[in-house]
Amino acid sequence: MIPEETISEIRERIDMVALVGEHVRLVKKGSNHVGLCPFHAEKSPSFNVSAGNKFFHCFGCQESGDPFSFTMRIEGITFPQAVRQLAERTGVEIPESDRREDAAEARKRQRAQELGAIMEEACRFYELQLKEHPAASVAREELERRGVSPEIANLFRLGYAPHTWDALLSHLRQKGIPERDADEVGLLGRRRDDSGFYDRFRGRLMFPLRELGGAVVAFSGRVLPPPSGELKGDEPKYVNSPEGPLYHKGQVLYGLHEGRVETRRRDWAILCEGNFDLLALHQSGLSNSMAPLGTAFTAAQAKLLARFAKRVTLLFDGDAAGLKAVRAAQPMLAEFGLRGQVAQLPSGDDPDSFLRRHGADGLRELVGQARGIVEFLIDAAADQAGPSAAERAAAVEELGPVLATVRNSVEVQLYIDRVSQRFGLTDQRALRQQLRQGVLRGRRRPGDKPVKSQVDPRPEGVKLPRLQKELLGVLLDRPKLFATPEAGQLEELLTSAALRDVFRAARAAAQENGVLDVPALLSALENHEALPWLRESLALQTYRGRDDADQVLKNGIPLLAKSNREQKLRGLSREISAARQSGNNDLADSLMRQRELLVRGG
Ligand code: CTP
Ligand code: MN
Repeated sequence: MIPEETISEIRERIDMVALVGEHVRLVKKGSNHVGLCPFHAEKSPSFNVSAGNKFFHCFGCQESGDPFSFTMRIEGITFPQAVRQLAERTGVEIPESDRREDAAEARKRQRAQELGAIMEEACRFYELQLKEHPAASVAREELERRGVSPEIANLFRLGYAPHTWDALLSHLRQKGIPERDADEVGLLGRRRDDSGFYDRFRGRLMFPLRELGGAVVAFSGRVLPPPSGELKGDEPKYVNSPEGPLYHKGQVLYGLHEGRVETRRRDWAILCEGNFDLLALHQSGLSNSMAPLGTAFTAAQAKLLARFAKRVTLLFDGDAAGLKAVRAAQPMLAEFGLRGQVAQLPSGDDPDSFLRRHGADGLRELVGQARGIVEFLIDAAADQAGPSAAERAAAVEELGPVLATVRNSVEVQLYIDRVSQRFGLTDQRALRQQLRQGVLRGRRRPGDKPVKSQVDPRPEGVKLPRLQKELLGVLLDRPKLFATPEAGQLEELLTSAALRDVFRAARAAAQENGVLDVPALLSALENHEALPWLRESLALQTYRGRDDADQVLKNGIPLLAKSNREQKLRGLSREISAARQSGNNDLADSLMRQRELLVRGG
């Protein structure tokens, strides 16, 4: 706990008008200051700040509070974080013992501060080079060519990394910064003969990546042509900082620091892909824009974003990769309760090129016409599905997991209506059934948390091991593979008795012509516990049209073998400790030997 006196002291020292004034243009009105509320969108000012009371109140959205709550809301941070931030601002010391840190934590914080100072130094260096280096014209010309205004370049602290091998290195040396430290934050590369370091970023336009609070944690450097001559063409377009003690990729959003207040005010964020896209959006007045930078949009980023806005418009490139990115982002948005929208760029355009051709108004209009993300995915599925019934059914099925993330059942019904319209299906029961199949098949990407579904997947009955089901499923879809050695290996590896039964019955029902005698198989397994799964599997035929089916089987066998062995090891370990505890040392020893053999066995 931070002591109450410390908090009061900070409150006393803080200049409330200056604090708020960093985010809101305030005008003096009587004894108060008035401005446009940073917490909701409004056209006439209803946001009041009392300097004397150190208190704000908005007559529009009823938000009110003291300097701490203002900082918490505007920065998206917790109370202790806000106290710390304002303590620093006012120069109030927070008593050491009350920081509740042990020595190790304090050292870590100290170290992070040291490393942060190096990043700041590098950022300043690159900024200065952009203004003063004799060869910086290639960088300035690139900015001009891309229409980046000097204000935006300054706001985003863009820089130039000279084309030489050691510009930053010698600067840091001059400042007495150890090379080890600069290397630790990813600013350097190590010479191949290990005789020292060189600059990681050379001949690049530098985009510093800042965390929410504004500290520089990484750089993204775009290649620039050499001052005289051409690029060789084999240079990577972007070089980004590696992850390290300061930088955890996928946890930072590029542009959020600069756009956090606007994002909160509008309760709305725009997500784009590229560095230049981000600058273009901010420059068009859409400063609630941000980019994942160097990674696909992650759950951590969705969580971070959710602290500032409830609505997110995805503005990805109008190509297949863009669609893929929308698909990947959708479950993450859903998980954190973010309302997703998609603004569709003409194919071949990115926000940056679109802006240059259609101007800021054009871009804002495009963003304004965004569609709901689920509608977008439904439409994309309908537009892209092939003409055959099977292809269209598969496309419907793929929408199952998308609809399953929608929590509101009225909304689900409306989406189902849209699917039925777009796919021309009148039988809603069949449609729901097909969507459910998609959910059951778990077409979600690995790492996604399952979300409670309104499409309501049927319970699976008996629980069967996933990988074993998958591999057996390959054989069911391709009965010819029963004749391969892999099938024999699989039979050995099926630890589920139920699946072993299915395996044997199916092998018996596999006919010469490569077709499964389904009625025979079903009657052989009448009332069998695996029947619900078998029916599904027979209906879905996941691997039927896939020519990689045998490869899936080949690759899966060693995986299954490994997982079986690990499971067995865990079981033995449990038995060993149980035996030891009950004093049965002979049994324990014999189990130990078994375990030893298993470990050595491969
Ligand atoms: N990116 C990256 N590493 C790469 C390529 C791309 O980190 N090798 C990231 C960058 O943040 C980049 C974004 O992905 O901005 C989008 O890539 P791309 O469209 O290729 O880059 P642009 O910035 O649009 O480049 P330009 O318009 O100058 O070609
Ligand atoms: Mn681009």
